[in-house]
Amino acid sequence: MGKLRGKVAVVTGGATGIGRAAAKRFIEEGAFVFIFGRRQDALDAAVADLGPNARAVKGSVSDEADLDRLYAEVKAERGTLDIVFANAGAGSPLPLGKITAEHIDETFDTNVKGTIFTVQRALPLMGPGGSIILTGSSAGTTGAPGFSAYSASKAAVRNLARTWAEDLKGTGIRVNVLSPGATATELAKEALGEEGQRAYGAMTPLQRMADPAEIGAVAAFLASDDSSFMTASEVAVDGGLAQL
Ligand SMILES: NC(=O)c1ccc[n+]([C@@H]2O[C@H](COP(=O)([O-])OP(=O)(O)OC[C@H]3O[C@@H](n4cnc5c(N)ncnc54)[C@H](OP(=O)(O)O)[C@@H]3O)[C@@H](O)[C@H]2O)c1
Repeated sequence: MGKLRGKVAVVTGGATGIGRAAAKRFIEEGAFVFIFGRRQDALDAAVADLGPNARAVKGSVSDEADLDRLYAEVKAERGTLDIVFANAGAGSPLPLGKITAEHIDETFDTNVKGTIFTVQRALPLMGPGGSIILTGSSAGTTGAPGFSAYSASKAAVRNLARTWAEDLKGTGIRVNVLSPGATATELAKEALGEEGQRAYGAMTPLQRMADPAEIGAVAAFLASDDSSFMTASEVAVDGGLAQL
């Protein structure tokens, strides 16, 4: 333990699910973590659980002013930033034939625009040794029925790491994508339903969904110097779902 000792991290979507599990693991490894999300009650509950090395900032990744406020708080309180886990994301199914402009805008505003500005606005606080982790999805690689907008948005996230590894050449900042498979969180419950979750568990070679802590453990690896020669990579943490 302690591989993130003294590091400062931002985790978007850090109040629940994968983000919260990652924030917990980052703190166990010695980091100070700012979690970011839109629901104050969820943020308060998370900070009560995560303890004194967590701070919550309320806002949306789709709102650049909110992100500026987040990073102003990080700067005021810690002065610097080592780790950005751009994890906030959302998605619901709508089959081809039923897709609306609102559905596309909503999905891309959070998953693509939100990811871009989460990272872009963080850069002035980051330096050599910095690690950026983007949350992709097995859905970005495979075809998932009804998930056109979500899957396309996650395929876009996968490319952001490739492009940014180029843009970040010479800065000492690394960027990688962590792509979970089916993981037992609120999002999975809402997007897949009980039956869909069972089906995804059954489709997965490890024959179950992931516990969010299993994704958080790999996020901590990517955040730490243990992954110091990794950039532009996609790390699948999917029980084999998208690998066969
Ligand atoms: N669970 C899975 O099976 C699975 C599989 C592959 C990839 N993923 C990805 O993993 C990431 C985390 O999802 P999860 O499964 O942990 O679901 P979750 O528990 O619903 O977490 C999503 C988090 O993102 C936050 N969020 C959503 N929109 C936001 C916005 N505009 N601004 C700021 N925060 C926002 C939510 O908080 P507020 O609503 O309070 O803002 C929530 O805390 C997502 O990117 C998702 O696409 C999940």
